[in-house]
Amino acid sequence: MSIAVLEPTQSPAVSRPTIRTLPAGPAALLVEHATKRFKVDRRKPPVLAVDDVSIRLERGEIYGLLGTNGSGKSTFIRLVSGLLTLDEGRVEVFGHDLVREEMAVKRLINRVSVDAAFFKKLSPAENLSFAARLYGLDPRQARRQAAPSSGGRK
Ligand SMILES: Nc1ncnc2c1ncn2[C@@H]1O[C@H](COP(=O)(O)OP(=O)(O)OP(=O)(O)O)[C@@H](O)[C@H]1O
Ligand SMILES: [Mg+2]
Repeated sequence: MSIAVLEPTQSPAVSRPTIRTLPAGPAALLVEHATKRFKVDRRKPPVLAVDDVSIRLERGEIYGLLGTNGSGKSTFIRLVSGLLTLDEGRVEVFGHDLVREEMAVKRLINRVSVDAAFFKKLSPAENLSFAARLYGLDPRQARRQAAPSSGGRK
């Protein structure tokens, strides 16, 4: 396991790039000079959340991203999973460019957030059924598999 340590938050948050020797073949994740600024208040300069981060992860590698609160970890993950757009830099996942081949990248990425990944107003069965349909299951089959016996709210 490799560990990247993003520098503690200053204002704006600063992170240091990690670049290693590049072996042949597409990387599982390739990030080059990723930079993201948030414009919160027109009168103030933007917050530099991710500052020129480069990283290359090989297939099968497990990588930990550590940093103090506000150092840019979540923003970085949102950038590489296509939930935020980069101001500068580029991202490739298994050789697919995040901007040009967005859907191919999204099919290859799975992000589990600390935030609740389900709808609180739906029952567990309804949540399962909804998720199954996102993965292309037939609606009836999804409902059956989500709640084989009860189908009710639990
Ligand atoms: N949507 C946003 N709008 C404005 N500023 C943001 C936004 N998201 C993050 N920031 C700012 O960007 C910086 C990095 O935040 P980020 O949430 O990525 O840090 P983090 O390392 O995930 O922190 P934590 O450990 O608390 O989860 C912080 O200064 C934060 O206030
Ligand atoms: Mg976070």
